[in-house]
Amino acid sequence: MTAMRDELHIRDVAPADAAELADLLNAIIARGGTTALQDPFSAEDLAKTYLIGPHVHCCFVAVAAATGRIEGFQTLVRNPPLPDDIGDIATFARIDGTQRGVGSALFAATKARARALGLTAISATIRADNHGGLAFYGKQGFADYAVARAIPLKNGEAVDRITKRCLL
Ligand SMILES: CC(C)(COP(=O)(O)OP(=O)(O)OC[C@H]1O[C@@H](n2cnc3c(N)ncnc32)[C@H](O)[C@@H]1OP(=O)(O)O)[C@@H](O)C(=O)NCCC(=O)NCCS
Repeated sequence: MTAMRDELHIRDVAPADAAELADLLNAIIARGGTTALQDPFSAEDLAKTYLIGPHVHCCFVAVAAATGRIEGFQTLVRNPPLPDDIGDIATFARIDGTQRGVGSALFAATKARARALGLTAISATIRADNHGGLAFYGKQGFADYAVARAIPLKNGEAVDRITKRCLL
């Protein structure tokens, strides 16, 4: 018998998700090599910055219908250097997750909400060494927009940052 792919339920984040999402994100930060974030988040800081704070346009979570576990989240925020009608996106899927399609399912919801909010584009800034992240946003329709050269990590290593944009 073949295993059926778990269904994902996409919904808006709730304040009660903050602790589970901080654990999910902190595991990605601790592993290193993908996200540009380097310091772990408390649930409170994560909520303020990415989940329900004043700069957040929207944040969706992907819940595995079979288990109720959150498999990933995607946030779209106002980032002051960008014009008000361009949201800045970040996407995180569990490192111990087995499901494919978490990021894509989240992006369908984020894109629809961004359009409904009247945004004109979504911007994603990705480390140049994050090949998975670059491929993921490329697959969602993002095109290269700008490169910031040799931005240092805390350990001194310099890594380019690639900004991609998806027009809405
Ligand atoms: C990037 C990330 C969000 C992708 O999430 P995901 O749930 O694995 O993405 P999906 O399964 O929806 O992938 C959609 C498509 O993107 C591409 N893709 C995703 N991850 C990829 C990888 N590691 N390598 C190559 N292509 C990849 C593939 O084309 C994939 O389609 P396919 O499965 O049909 O081949 C996830 O790997 C992650 O959380 N990474 C760590 C954090 C991070 O780097 N976030 C991005 C910067 S904010």
